[in-house]
Amino acid sequence: MVTNFRPHPKPPPAPWRYRGSRLESPPRCTLTWSRIRRPAVPELHEAGSTRHQSQGMFFSVCYDSVSLHESERSMTARILDGLKIRDEIFAELKDEVRLLAAAGVRPGLAAVLVGENPASQLYVKSKIAACEQLGLSSGLLTPPESATTRELLAVVDDLNHDNNVDGILVQLPLPPQVDTKRILEAVDPSKDVDGFHPVNLGRLASGRPGLVACTPAGCMEILRRGNVPMEGANAVVLGRSDIVGKPLALLLMHANATVTICHSKTRDLPEVVRRGDIVVAAMGKPAFVEADWIKPGAAVIDVGTNTIKDPTEAERLLRNFPARLEKFRAKGSVLVGDVHPAAVNTAGALTPVPGGVGPMTITMLMSNTVKAARLRRASPAVSTSQSTASAR
Ligand code: GUN
Repeated sequence: MVTNFRPHPKPPPAPWRYRGSRLESPPRCTLTWSRIRRPAVPELHEAGSTRHQSQGMFFSVCYDSVSLHESERSMTARILDGLKIRDEIFAELKDEVRLLAAAGVRPGLAAVLVGENPASQLYVKSKIAACEQLGLSSGLLTPPESATTRELLAVVDDLNHDNNVDGILVQLPLPPQVDTKRILEAVDPSKDVDGFHPVNLGRLASGRPGLVACTPAGCMEILRRGNVPMEGANAVVLGRSDIVGKPLALLLMHANATVTICHSKTRDLPEVVRRGDIVVAAMGKPAFVEADWIKPGAAVIDVGTNTIKDPTEAERLLRNFPARLEKFRAKGSVLVGDVHPAAVNTAGALTPVPGGVGPMTITMLMSNTVKAARLRRASPAVSTSQSTASAR
């Protein structure tokens, strides 16, 4: 996949051409790129299996609600189904893509995948597959692991100048020699479909329209479409990352929730969490939030996606979930969130892992790409017929 990467000596003019759903490398462009094919996912077609998500894998393996054990049937929480919400939003986006096509605009996403990190490759593959599903054009640049900050700045500059590219996605993490912040800040804010640029973060902080980071935006869609009341609610956000915790706290505040952000130095954490009508767990620590920290009836948004491979750990966490345990034994691994699975018995509503927040990240990336295309390239007539999902 990675070939012939050399930096541009100076910022070149629009380096890519589109043909069909593909971006084609121009004669003078020294980058080669490849389109990633949709992975074969036989499980998707099997009766009784539904779709699994991790950050980008929105079509995959088995989902644990297929055959419930008796103890699992007594679960109380309403499931906030990210897969169902994704499908709703995709349907809306397809309508908007059709309108844009009628106006001669085909939204395009360019992904920059540096090196050969398997997880990143999988995520990017899924993002490109989602583009294909929605009729967006997509292209992939694959600079090698040894790429320098200067080289990547040139890549971003190329994409900034290409009018057919509406969204630029620089897959993280970048190799250690690269100044990640400089790269993210080089992305044209109007193409910053990840919502990581300080301009977009600033717009979010000051309540002005812009592109919002995908995972927090996805959490908000789950809350809205799951009819979870936010106005006046106590929302507790665990984790203060630039990518999830901070933007989500701002979004919740704009939705008139009373927001508390917790982190590793927060005192009396269980007590603080117990005050939450809405709890968002985004610390990346498997099953860290205990079931009895959750106020009965609270809405729980679990952003964590942690792979458990240790049998003792799996037995401990899934003691009361024999169906999931069975699957762990068959597969040798299981995904758990940052919230203990037993919280399903105390929460009023909850996002499952997998199948909750995960599919929403890629969904909101698609939504941001369509929105960026509309704002950059569509006439006001098309802009007034925007979908709900990409309007935000
Ligand atoms: N790596 C892990 N999550 C993300 C994401 O949402 N965007 C990008 N660009 N890289 C990631």
